[in-house]
Amino acid sequence: MQIIAVASGKGGVGKSLVAANLAIALTQVKKRVILADLDLGGSNLHLVLGEHVGPRGIGTFLNNGKTKIDQISYPTTWKGLSFIPGEAELPGAANVTVPSKRRLLKALSNLDTDYLILDLGAGTNFNTVDFFLLSGCGILVATPTLTSTLNAYLFLKNAVFRILSSSYNRNSPVHSYMEDLRKDGTSLQRIHLNKLLDSIRTMDSEVYDKYLEKVAQLRPRLIMNMLDDPRDVSRSHRLRISTREYLGIEMDSLGVIYRDQLQDTAQRSSLPIIAYKPQAVLSQAIYRIADKIIYFDEVLTGPLTNIEADDSFREAELEAESDFGLKVASLEELLHSGALTRGDLVETIRMQQIEITALKKENRFIKKKLVNAADQGFKV
Ligand SMILES: Nc1ncnc2c1ncn2[C@@H]1O[C@H](COP(=O)(O)OP(=O)(O)O)[C@@H](O)[C@H]1O
Ligand SMILES: [Mg+2]
Repeated sequence: MQIIAVASGKGGVGKSLVAANLAIALTQVKKRVILADLDLGGSNLHLVLGEHVGPRGIGTFLNNGKTKIDQISYPTTWKGLSFIPGEAELPGAANVTVPSKRRLLKALSNLDTDYLILDLGAGTNFNTVDFFLLSGCGILVATPTLTSTLNAYLFLKNAVFRILSSSYNRNSPVHSYMEDLRKDGTSLQRIHLNKLLDSIRTMDSEVYDKYLEKVAQLRPRLIMNMLDDPRDVSRSHRLRISTREYLGIEMDSLGVIYRDQLQDTAQRSSLPIIAYKPQAVLSQAIYRIADKIIYFDEVLTGPLTNIEADDSFREAELEAESDFGLKVASLEELLHSGALTRGDLVETIRMQQIEITALKKENRFIKKKLVNAADQGFKV
């Protein structure tokens, strides 16, 4: 079984959309898929999937030690797809205790299926990170805004720290060293990972080796969602370079997804876009991602071939170019067919204006930071 956790640093970037549509795309090539809603604070995957399911879900499993995972797994309209809902009725479910989380992690790992797709909650808390680390090749979804990519980076940084903290026990000098850092509050977030690792190596080389061995298995896959312009893809490059340089981990790119207006209609019809309109640019992007995932699996389980991470990013760039052409073409088509009205376009322009205003604010904020930093630099 392949576990694919879908995470993001920031909410509203398209995790649930990717998780649900990807799950369906994989069933269409005869894979058995289980989709689980682990966004315990705000589970809405059933809405994206458009499925009415039974009353029990992850919340019941966590709160009631006798519940078996099979009892909360429901068949769906899609052949080969089972669904494990979150649970809207149990608001306390988000406070997961360590033993119940372990039980859930174990139960999920023992499921019998080809793919287990986990839709995670946004944010960087340890619970979310633990589910992400169930496999080394989780998907990280980001949008090409500064906050979103920054949060994606922070998410990975937390994942790396989580791996580090699972590499030593209480007897190691590293333990008390890390505890002291933690007590100091901000210092852990500010610390340069490479420097920290240098200190750890001198303190306890076994811990260091164990960490390296574990972290080498982490190879997240990035999806840049809600692109408006082919140039937006440059954000993913920067994210990759930062994670490589500062966190020492390699990422692959699963590609890009443009913002697609058809998604709004699909959502209103309570249908995943892949079912609503398989030819949509968005649906096609999902199919392409599904193909890549299957391809990666075959290559990874086959003879050891080196997949170059750089290649996957170059490919994403080309796809961004060609999808943009497709998007513009389909816009014209829709206008001619009358499916898209002038009003829709006006609405789109209005939404874009709001986003531009938000970006301008972000831009001013960063500029101010930059100027402040420069001022301080001159004083020194
Ligand atoms: N590529 C896209 N084009 C258009 N709308 C999108 C796209 N990706 C996501 N959305 C919309 O953005 C909103 C947030 O997506 P969702 O999957 O719920 O995010 P998350 O699970 O990360 O919180 C939803 O309304 C969804 O339909
Ligand atoms: Mg979601």
